[in-house]
Amino acid sequence: MKTAKIIAITNQKGGVGKTTTAVNLAAGLNKKGMRTLLIDIDSQGNASASLGLIIEHDIRTVKDLLCNPQNPRDFIAIAGAAEIIPSNNSLKDIEDALLKGKNFDTLNNSIAPLANEYEYIIIDCPPSVNVFTKNALKASNEIIIPVDVGYFSLLGLKQLLEEIERFKREINPRLEILGVLACRYDRRTSLSSQIYETLKQSFPDKLFNTYIRLSIDIVRAQIAQKSIFDYNNRGTGAEDYNSLTEEIINGQ
Ligand SMILES: Nc1ncnc2c1ncn2[C@@H]1O[C@H](COP(=O)(O)OP(=O)(O)OP(=O)(O)O)[C@@H](O)[C@H]1O
Ligand SMILES: [Mg+2]
Repeated sequence: MKTAKIIAITNQKGGVGKTTTAVNLAAGLNKKGMRTLLIDIDSQGNASASLGLIIEHDIRTVKDLLCNPQNPRDFIAIAGAAEIIPSNNSLKDIEDALLKGKNFDTLNNSIAPLANEYEYIIIDCPPSVNVFTKNALKASNEIIIPVDVGYFSLLGLKQLLEEIERFKREINPRLEILGVLACRYDRRTSLSSQIYETLKQSFPDKLFNTYIRLSIDIVRAQIAQKSIFDYNNRGTGAEDYNSLTEEIINGQ
């Protein structure tokens, strides 16, 4: 019997590499034979779009799952090798109602029956600690925090860590930080390596050894609506996400 590790990819800062990491980590895990489900809980729907799912309003999405939390299987779409519960702009329609009802455990209750079917469930969060992020954090055992090491504020990360501690106390005491992930690492300047070292000093046990280098293939793969492994399995993008996948599988 499988009991999925449920990992939220979160950072309230925008554009740091959350979606890129969620999509390619899920693909990397699947490639290594770990059955993995991706959940897009961001109304931007970027993870869904980057796998070729441009979701029309009449197609089932995570919004419909949160409104009808039974039978979660019915909401899973197949995109190439990926299994994904997709999202789109319509998710915003239920934000006020969920917030008003303080419904932070809807996703957790809803996906509970899937835990025995998957080794991993990866949740791509929006760039704010809103009611959807809270649902994701409530449903998760662990979080990965991607950080843009090309442009980075340690203060922003400190605030996020404080927020997670508060969330742990108030909503989900079993939540653990799996790791901080350095993304968009630029080898042409010394800035990224300086920031990586600063992160290492601040989070000696939590920073992944793997860092994700800037790679034009990562952008091209998203435009081609494929994972990095399906787009170009030999470049640095695939190398880095493969290394992250191995670090996660071996570290547990
Ligand atoms: N390693 C990389 N190399 C090159 N471009 C990258 C890399 N990682 C991410 N990007 C690009 O940076 C942008 C932001 O990445 P991504 O969408 O993954 O961030 P995000 O944190 O999910 O953003 P948001 O907060 O809006 O959800 C995207 O255009 C993506 O293509
Ligand atoms: Mg995103």
